Amino acid sequence: MKKIALVTGGAGFIGSHLVELLIKKKFKVIVIDNLSNGNLKNIKNLIKEKNLIFLKKNISDKKLNLKKYKINYVFHLAALGSIVPSIDNPIKYMENNFNGTLNLLEKLRNMKIKKIVYAASSSCYGLAATPTSEKNEINTQYPYAFSKWIAEEAIKHWSKLFNMPYVSIRIFNAFGPRFQTKGAYGSVIGVFLKQKLSKKPITLVGDGNQSRDYVHVKDVANAFYLAAISKYKNQVFNLGSSKPIKINEIIKLLKPRKIEKIPNRPGEPLKTHANIGKIKNMLGWKPNISFEDGFSDLLKNIDDWKNAPLWDKKKIKKATFNWFKYLK
Ligand SMILES: NC(=O)c1ccc[n+]([C@@H]2O[C@H](COP(=O)([O-])OP(=O)(O)OC[C@H]3O[C@@H](n4cnc5c(N)ncnc54)[C@H](O)[C@@H]3O)[C@@H](O)[C@H]2O)c1
Repeated sequence: MKKIALVTGGAGFIGSHLVELLIKKKFKVIVIDNLSNGNLKNIKNLIKEKNLIFLKKNISDKKLNLKKYKINYVFHLAALGSIVPSIDNPIKYMENNFNGTLNLLEKLRNMKIKKIVYAASSSCYGLAATPTSEKNEINTQYPYAFSKWIAEEAIKHWSKLFNMPYVSIRIFNAFGPRFQTKGAYGSVIGVFLKQKLSKKPITLVGDGNQSRDYVHVKDVANAFYLAAISKYKNQVFNLGSSKPIKINEIIKLLKPRKIEKIPNRPGEPLKTHANIGKIKNMLGWKPNISFEDGFSDLLKNIDDWKNAPLWDKKKIKKATFNWFKYLK
């Protein structure tokens, strides 16, 4: 019998790669996405696939009826994902990411789900000592981080009460094709690629000495798949490459004509660096695509960013100002 998977947020950046992998692995896949940040174009090659059902729905929808799909595995990725706007609008983030997760958990109760795999965020560790292991202290610095972490706690609680095994994967920084650049708040690599393509100055936050632990999105999808099929349950795993890259190194690879500096933001760590010993040992996962290979592939396909929105500097300045107000 075919395994049946639900992927929430399956039209998003990571979700679309996961859907692709699950279809390849012969799963039947049900995608729920309200397209608030995702795009059907991300899964356009699969949409005619008979093993894919796409539902344009909100995970917070009280009328959501999942029983008829006989789901075995749930991959929960739907969330609002940006840091800065979560400071402008924390309630929206809590309602979407936390209440949405609660609603989903309630809908899954009594459905004999084999495992729920959750896309948690390394932002739960805040300004942590590095390399950061799963045992590091939780120290959320902004509402996005809090909403993602408290949703993870809800999953653990439902799991304990209603026998719904879970694996929570705390992703560090995913990168790769279909990266979001959405207006003011995109991830730095996508923002840079769009700026380079548009011959605009590269906007550098701080001095560029901050580093991020980038892991390729295809490796992220593989970790989610392995987490679902493995014998392990009720576990938290860190997921990164464990090889932090300085923002200045990325800029060097991009060879920009001009750089425009933007002040550093107080809640952001100078360095993220995952200790990935646990996921390597237990799931047998390892990163297969290096940053250099993944990045040069992105550069080769830079035209993919033609229709992506540019960073909105006015918005970002206002949001950065609010961030300072909030944290000082
Ligand atoms: N990209 C990263 O580096 C990273 C790091 C840590 C954690 N994560 C987590 O991984 C998940 C996927 O991230 P991503 O980068 O692919 O983001 P994304 O925005 O591309 O994907 C999220 C998807 O969820 C959908 N969505 C949001 N709210 C929804 C709702 N209420 N109902 C239905 N659909 C909804 C969006 O339309 C989007 O398609 C998120 O939960 C994010 O918090 C991502």
